Formats: sequence, structure tokens, C-alpha cells
Amino acid sequence: MTMEPQEYHEALAQLAWLVELGADEAIGAVGVNRYEEKVKPARVPVEAPVVAVDKPVDIPAEAARLAAGCADLEALRAALEGFDGCALKRGARNTVFSDGNPAARVMIIGEAPGRDEDIQGKPFIGHSGQLLDKMLAAIGLSRNAEAPEDAVYITNVLPWRPPQNRDPLDEEKAMMKPFLMRHIELVKPQVLLLVGNPSNQTLLETNQGVTRLRGKWHEVAGIPALPIFHPAYLLRRPEKKREAWADLLMLKTKLEEG
Ligand code: URA
Repeated sequence: MTMEPQEYHEALAQLAWLVELGADEAIGAVGVNRYEEKVKPARVPVEAPVVAVDKPVDIPAEAARLAAGCADLEALRAALEGFDGCALKRGARNTVFSDGNPAARVMIIGEAPGRDEDIQGKPFIGHSGQLLDKMLAAIGLSRNAEAPEDAVYITNVLPWRPPQNRDPLDEEKAMMKPFLMRHIELVKPQVLLLVGNPSNQTLLETNQGVTRLRGKWHEVAGIPALPIFHPAYLLRRPEKKREAWADLLMLKTKLEEG
């Protein structure tokens, strides 16, 4: 199809506008004109339901209540899938719960799913996930290992992809934290690897960045926790891999100490 320059610029402006609204992916080969769709008549209920006027729901308190009631990982996954308090869920294709071996000694906490993770429903499977897998392999760990001493278990602070991969908001991290803390309690890892700023800031309750936090052990709920650069950052700043390698060796030493 050929286009006049004017049409081309109009189409480009419309596309930029859609991307700004968050519609950053094509979901079909042909556009749908919603104005031409038949409008279904609204169904009128035979009897108007009695609507109870409740107190407004305190969403963070509800999240904490739901998380505390989960007896195992499957219950936690179901609670997250049923939780509608976080608006991110409405824009996500999947609730990204975890990957790896729940019996692992090492539990990895990332930030939030990106595009690939949202599509496939698993954490860290895009470019940064591939780098994470290589980093772990360098110290003998894998998400696919059966033996707990060789395995890792992976989750994120947020189980839903933020639009256009924007940074998680403070209120989103705070709202989802009870689920994350319950997740850690249920997995009972020996050590935590905190990947990237949002994970560190949420769990270590600090505004400091990984650059300041890395290189030493911290504690989360009594569990030793090691901050490490996010692999997405390492892809942009390969010169930082040297520090990441030093951190991985700290993790290896800790695991060897038992
Ligand atoms: N980055 C993250 O922090 N988590 C993912 O699952 C993918 C990319």
C-alpha cells in the first residue's frame, strides 16, 4: 500500500499516541473498528439485587489477610490469581508466580515480569533472564536442577507486568509485599538473592540503590540476603559484570559454608 506523506505522518502520530496509552503490542493482523461492532442491549435484571453498602476495602490489609491465610505455594498462587486489588493485573496476560525448584537453597527475587514473561507466565525468560541463567550456571546453579543444593527458585516483587515495563510504583510494591513475604516463608530458602533496585528497596526497606547495598550480606526475615545488579542493567553496563561476579562468588562461598 502506498501512502501520501501527509497520511504517513498522521498514521505515525496515531501510533505514537496508542503507544503512549500503553497499547504497545499488536494482538491481531487486522484492525477492529469497535464503532462498527453491534452494541449488545444491556441485560436488565428481573429483580434488582440488594447491594450491601460496605465500608471501603482496605486493599493492603486485605492483601495481608489473604497472604497470611495461604498454607502452601499452590494456595498462594491461587490467592494471587484471585486478588483484584492491584490495577496491574488488568493489563497483564498472566500472573507470573515463579519458576525453578521450591526445595532450592537459593531464592531469587526480581522486579516484575517484562513482555516475554507476561506472555509465557514465567519469570526471567527474556534477554535478562538468559543472562541470569548464565550467571547462575557459572557458580553451578540452575532453575532446572532437581538437587536442592544445585537449584534456584525464582519469583518477582510484582507478579504482573507494569505497562511498557515502567518501574513499579511504591504503592504497588507495598501492596504486594505481604504476598512476597508469605512466599519467602513458605519456600524457607537458606539465602535470598535480591536482583535489582525494586527488590532490594522493597525487602531491605531502604531507598539506597544496589550500588551502595551490594558487596555485603543483609537480612530479610532472619534469612541472609545478598543484593546483586539486575541482569538488564548488566546488559547495558557490561563493565559492571566484574562486581556482579564478585557477588556471585560471595553467594557460592556462603553456600559452601552450609
Ligand atoms: N526482570 C525481572 O526483574 N523479572 C523478570 O521476571 C523479568 C525481567
